[in-house]
Amino acid sequence: MDHTQNSGRVLTVVVNDRESETRTPARPLLRIPRDARDPFAMCPPMPRLRPGEHDLTQTAPGRPRAAGEVIEITGRILDEDLRPVRRTLVEVWNANTFGRYSHVIDAGRNDAPLDPHFYGFGRLVTDDEGRYQVTTIKPGAYIARTDIGWWRPPHVHFSIVGSGVRLVTQMYFPDEPLNDKDYIYLIIPEDDRDRVVGHPSAARHGARGFLFDIVLRGRYQTPPDLD
Ligand SMILES: [Fe+2]
Repeated sequence: MDHTQNSGRVLTVVVNDRESETRTPARPLLRIPRDARDPFAMCPPMPRLRPGEHDLTQTAPGRPRAAGEVIEITGRILDEDLRPVRRTLVEVWNANTFGRYSHVIDAGRNDAPLDPHFYGFGRLVTDDEGRYQVTTIKPGAYIARTDIGWWRPPHVHFSIVGSGVRLVTQMYFPDEPLNDKDYIYLIIPEDDRDRVVGHPSAARHGARGFLFDIVLRGRYQTPPDLD
């Protein structure tokens, strides 16, 4: 059993889970002074998005729908002062309903089938209120480490560019039995775990809806020249 020190809190990590050691800070975190937390880099140029890139359930508009349950995730991207992060790039990816990524690395280690109608990657830009909306297929669970029997629960990956900050995170689903056995989920302090779980909400298109707000560290994550 490995115990890792994290900001004065002792976390119990798993036997032989070597990856946890690389994910967990070994020393207390340094607090950056508030006045030094404004963005220092300009946002990269916004890519030109094609219609339908926020809808992962079809490989292109008009194509057949992917297998599995259609879900709609909505929410707002906010900076640490809860200002909306406007017109920022959000990238989303998830495994298909069988728990398989359409990625070359997954081809060699995952026997679950591909879905020819599910690519599993989407993009969108937030609106003037920092809102986003993505439609996808609820992903299946997949085994991440056969040597320790680590199954990842269903989850959707997010990358948010912001301005000077890039956050990569995941949304978990409520009431999934595998959540409490997931070593990434378990390493989050118990009181904060609710922040990475989508909350059931109303959805359009007859899909099952989830609300998932995301807060970026840093201030003024919308570049001032866009305000
Ligand atoms: Fe994943």
